[in-house]
Amino acid sequence: MKDVYILAIESSCDETSMAIVKNGREIESFTVLSQMDVHAEFGGVVPEIASRMHTENITMVLEETLKKSNVKMEEISAIAVTYAPGLLGSLLVGVEFAKTLSLVYKKPLIAVNHTIGHIYANAIENTLEFPLLALVVSGGHTDLILMKGDYDFEILGSTLDDAIGECYDKVARVLGLKYPGGPNVDKLSLEGEDTYPLPKPVNDSTYNFSFSGLKSHVINLVHNETQRGNEIRKSDLAKSFQVTAIDELTRKVELALQNYEVKELIIAGGVSANRYLREEIKKVADRYQIKLSIPKIEYCTDNAAMIGAAAYPLYKQKKFASFDLNPKSQATIVDK
Ligand code: KG4
Ligand code: ZN
Repeated sequence: MKDVYILAIESSCDETSMAIVKNGREIESFTVLSQMDVHAEFGGVVPEIASRMHTENITMVLEETLKKSNVKMEEISAIAVTYAPGLLGSLLVGVEFAKTLSLVYKKPLIAVNHTIGHIYANAIENTLEFPLLALVVSGGHTDLILMKGDYDFEILGSTLDDAIGECYDKVARVLGLKYPGGPNVDKLSLEGEDTYPLPKPVNDSTYNFSFSGLKSHVINLVHNETQRGNEIRKSDLAKSFQVTAIDELTRKVELALQNYEVKELIIAGGVSANRYLREEIKKVADRYQIKLSIPKIEYCTDNAAMIGAAAYPLYKQKKFASFDLNPKSQATIVDK
């Protein structure tokens, strides 16, 4: 088959990103323009500002992405875009831009689910081996998924309340750390010891997760100690929280590995950038002697390379979107 070059666009939150992905696994060119510094002033992403900045930057990101590659617009096989889930105004900018490119250059349009994109970050420079077990951990998701083939998802378990990334962000806030919280908790925990006894998230044998109890416990602990005039050992609390939350993830992964025969274990989503998770999941994979895939850090957080990788199986199956494609703020990976 002729080489397939997909131009992928991601704008679901506060990153304007584009990539040219060859045959679903080689990154020809990759650009991420982050708005993080702007939103940090407000302590979180401001949707109105995010969509306005996507509009201002998207053409420049395309020019930059094309300039960095040897591929010309005429050689592109298809245009892929994140259409859900995410901030509606942000998604809309990417979707309309993709439709315009598709129309002007007469290229097929491919609609990609953002969460599936995170999973396919593991298909970059790697051949996914099915059946596989995927741990998806991001700002909106904490899912344990069994994949028997491309786009064949069985959700074994999910969070019953908060996503782990959300929990990281709230803990960061109460510790007085800047947005984005997760990476800062991760960094601070390096200087600390696991000395605060914290409740285990859920102590059951399902594949579900629950993080709201742990989150509330940390928040209450900080408030109570502050009211009593006691000092919080922030780095120790960050470490204790991190160990408790991540150990719960790896415990559930182990449980699934005991009950399902899989060829590969993968992790995906923003929280897969977490150092402690990367170390601990490697220990699990070694113990079970199973192939492990962890995306490179730049493909863990939001990026268009993963969208190009996720679009490739759809391209092969000719699953193209029409021009009435609309963004959706919410969608699960099993939505049709
Ligand atoms: O996947 P992502 O970029 O966006 C969503 O699709 O939700 O994930 C963002 C989440 C945020 O909650 C952020 O704090 C968290 O991932 N995150 C981390 C780390 N890097 C990003 N959490 C813990 N440790 C990290 N190193
Ligand atoms: Zn994401």
